[in-house]
Amino acid sequence: MTDTTYKLAILTVSDKGSRGERTDTSSEAMRELLVQTDFSVYAYDIVPDEMELIANRLKNWADRDVIDVILTTGGTGLGPRDVTPEATLSVIDKLTPGFAEAMRMESMKITSRAMLSRAVAGARKNCLIINLPGSPKAARECLGIILPALSHAVDILRSHSAECAVND
Ligand code: MTE
Repeated sequence: MTDTTYKLAILTVSDKGSRGERTDTSSEAMRELLVQTDFSVYAYDIVPDEMELIANRLKNWADRDVIDVILTTGGTGLGPRDVTPEATLSVIDKLTPGFAEAMRMESMKITSRAMLSRAVAGARKNCLIINLPGSPKAARECLGIILPALSHAVDILRSHSAECAVND
């Protein structure tokens, strides 16, 4: 599908960012990459590393049935405050493990620390939710890895396509 613009939301998860103590350069890096794609950034928010706030924002966006994809950035590691995967799991209906598997597999070619990512992905209703890591470099790298499959995933989820037998 080439004539469609998909609606995407970015949720930055960062204690310091939400308090204005750190500039959110990760979402900026993601926006730069998305400019060349069929995805337009329709919504953006930044929340602290709090389960309930993350989950509520994800639910609220997904349940409006307008946003096709939510990308979170941050909070996927092993830090004491990192709860983005748990918040995501609490709101999704269907796991789509391939996105996180691909990100870890390809990112391992860049840094062995990729194995520290606990990112998850899944669908809530018609909306795909995917965790990306928090640093601008890591977020950009991981977005580049999942982008080739993203529009097809949305098409299938929204039943615009039932055919998976396509060339990349
Ligand atoms: N993936 C890529 N492609 N590049 C990276 O630099 N950093 C890793 C990992 N994934 C990294 C990456 C590191 S150091 C951590 S701790 C985890 O992502 C989790 O990051 P987060 O806590 O900022 O979400």
